[in-house]
Amino acid sequence: MSTRVDAETEELSDAGATGDGDVVPVGVKLGSTRTVIALPTDDGDLRIIRTLTCLASYEDALTGEEKYLYGNEAAREYPDRVQFMLRSGLPEDEDRVELTAQFFEAVIEFHDIPEDSTVVYATPTIDNPAGLENLQEVIEGSSIGGDLIESYPESLCGSIPAFGDDLEAIEEIFVAVNMGSTNLEASAYRRGEQIAPFTTGAGTGNEVDRIIANYVEEETQGRVNIGVTTAREYKEEHADFDDFEPFTDIIQRPGGGSHEFTIERSVMDAMNEYLEEVVEEFANTFLSQLANNHMKIYQFALDRPIVLTGGMACIPGIVDEFEERVGDELGRDVEAVAADRPDLAATVGAQRIAARLAQVE
Ligand SMILES: Nc1ncnc2c1ncn2[C@@H]1O[C@H](COP(=O)(O)OP(=O)(O)OP(=O)(O)O)[C@@H](O)[C@H]1O
Ligand SMILES: [Mg+2]
Repeated sequence: MSTRVDAETEELSDAGATGDGDVVPVGVKLGSTRTVIALPTDDGDLRIIRTLTCLASYEDALTGEEKYLYGNEAAREYPDRVQFMLRSGLPEDEDRVELTAQFFEAVIEFHDIPEDSTVVYATPTIDNPAGLENLQEVIEGSSIGGDLIESYPESLCGSIPAFGDDLEAIEEIFVAVNMGSTNLEASAYRRGEQIAPFTTGAGTGNEVDRIIANYVEEETQGRVNIGVTTAREYKEEHADFDDFEPFTDIIQRPGGGSHEFTIERSVMDAMNEYLEEVVEEFANTFLSQLANNHMKIYQFALDRPIVLTGGMACIPGIVDEFEERVGDELGRDVEAVAADRPDLAATVGAQRIAARLAQVE
């Protein structure tokens, strides 16, 4: 079996990530789009590994043996048959458990993540016990976390770097919104305790990608058909609530020749509909449930910053736009904040929890 993983590796400075003893504190998020892992470097910085959660199998041209490619390389070289094992957010069945485990082990091996580690996983809040059990199977079957394995909600972990340099979020009462690829989650937290968790499939990053693909077809009068992967790339590179710029791209025609086109509306029309949906679900469904069932916490939390986490919170200007639209919807001022890198925040927060757990052990 081949174990090639092509990941983007970044180093971020993050004080206090090291923990105390010889056990390495690691944070992990196995996301439906990307897997992100954080661990300390020897000089106390944080090393972040970020790769697409996918694999592609191919046949060895000489031996006929089935081989696998993982991550970004698989997506780039086999766009026709790359598989995202966590497409729905969690491993759905035993096959996906196996493929996810195989993928995760390949990433662990390639990046030398130590077995002797305390690992904290940032896990989604979804009402899907079978799927969560399957994820647990992958987590417990992995070769890392020899010292300790714990899981915390993704939106709590993602709020940690938004509140400060340490674990301040765990002392707070606040509301967090996790804007992911397959789900929109919202929860209140009271000193780390999750209250009134809410999950919906309405208002998701994947839905934006599908809408962009449709709108591009419309905007180009049917001349351009892009898949959801290209749509995701358009969104990640160009969506911007502050200053969106129209952009051009070129497609190769099947019969030869190429076609250049410009996208002016498709990306931001889709983004505006997305944000409308997010605000609607957050303000009218989640918050009204919270107000009904936990009035005091609702009042407390709305006086504090609302934390936005997850990859979709990376879109420039989205935090201010969310703040404004929620304010309009509720008829009162609210404040919204996010970590510097909302797509990495859950993993960074999980890593800080791991460092703390490794200290108290
Ligand atoms: N700059 C960006 N970097 C990373 N992801 C981005 C960025 N901009 C937008 N996104 C989008 O954010 C989504 C991924 O968010 P995230 O990584 O939080 O999801 P996930 O945890 O894998 O998904 P879920 O929890 O919903 O199953 C994707 O739709 C992705 O395209
Ligand atoms: Mg997620």
